[in-house]
Amino acid sequence: MSSKSIPRDVALLDPAKLPQHVAMIMDGNGRWAKKRLLNRIQGHEKGADTVRAVVEACREIGIPYLTLFAFSTENWQRPQREVDALMTLLKKFLEDEREELQKNGIRLTVIGETTRLPQNVRQSIDEVVAATAVNDKLRLILALSYGGRAEIVRMARELATAVADGQLRPDQIDHDRVARSLYTPDIPDPDILVRTSGEMRISNFLLWQIAYAELYFTPTLWPDFGKEEFCQILHDYQQRDRRYGKVDPV
Ligand code: FPP
Repeated sequence: MSSKSIPRDVALLDPAKLPQHVAMIMDGNGRWAKKRLLNRIQGHEKGADTVRAVVEACREIGIPYLTLFAFSTENWQRPQREVDALMTLLKKFLEDEREELQKNGIRLTVIGETTRLPQNVRQSIDEVVAATAVNDKLRLILALSYGGRAEIVRMARELATAVADGQLRPDQIDHDRVARSLYTPDIPDPDILVRTSGEMRISNFLLWQIAYAELYFTPTLWPDFGKEEFCQILHDYQQRDRRYGKVDPV
């Protein structure tokens, strides 16, 4: 495909074939910073600007669900200074964006082991989640202290407890019942998963939910990612043939 035919604008996307849910693994902040002889935290700060740009793009394009992998259960093992900086950045983001989210009809929710987050971050989350609860233009889901396997373990414990208590029979456990015990009972599965920075891994993100997601790996580092490339990915997504294991009708 010549670069001329690659759409650079929202207007060139087919509104009937937009994904309902985009999930993103925001990777490459550290490498972005290193290339510029900056510290990793400055990379995360620039990454927060990309978060704003992608949220704005989803709202403009009309994508109703966006899930961002902002902090994994494994990220707790990073140096304390970096963890603290990420928590501070997150709190600042929530405070700075609260009005903008409200103005644009964006609802914030969070998935993950949020009880592990510092109390002041949890308080900011609770405030923004409550303040934006009735918004319905875009649902922004931040995965924080999130791990897909931990989510599955949590679900298994919940179902096992219900069985042990006599509230559920094993034969009543089906796809739907499992999905309802995950963090995302009211959220459609992602149609596409994008990972930046050239790494081609899922890294424990939404393991159950991405069963049929289209996968996109771009070498672009997260702080360099923007609306133009996002539109290109969405255009590419619109050309893909999603068969869900079936065959095309002849
Ligand atoms: C991965 O880059 C990124 C993270 C672990 C954190 C993501 C955080 C942000 C994008 C900024 C803050 C987020 C919000 C929602 C305000 P990396 O550090 O693993 O990069 P590297 O692989 O190049 O070292």
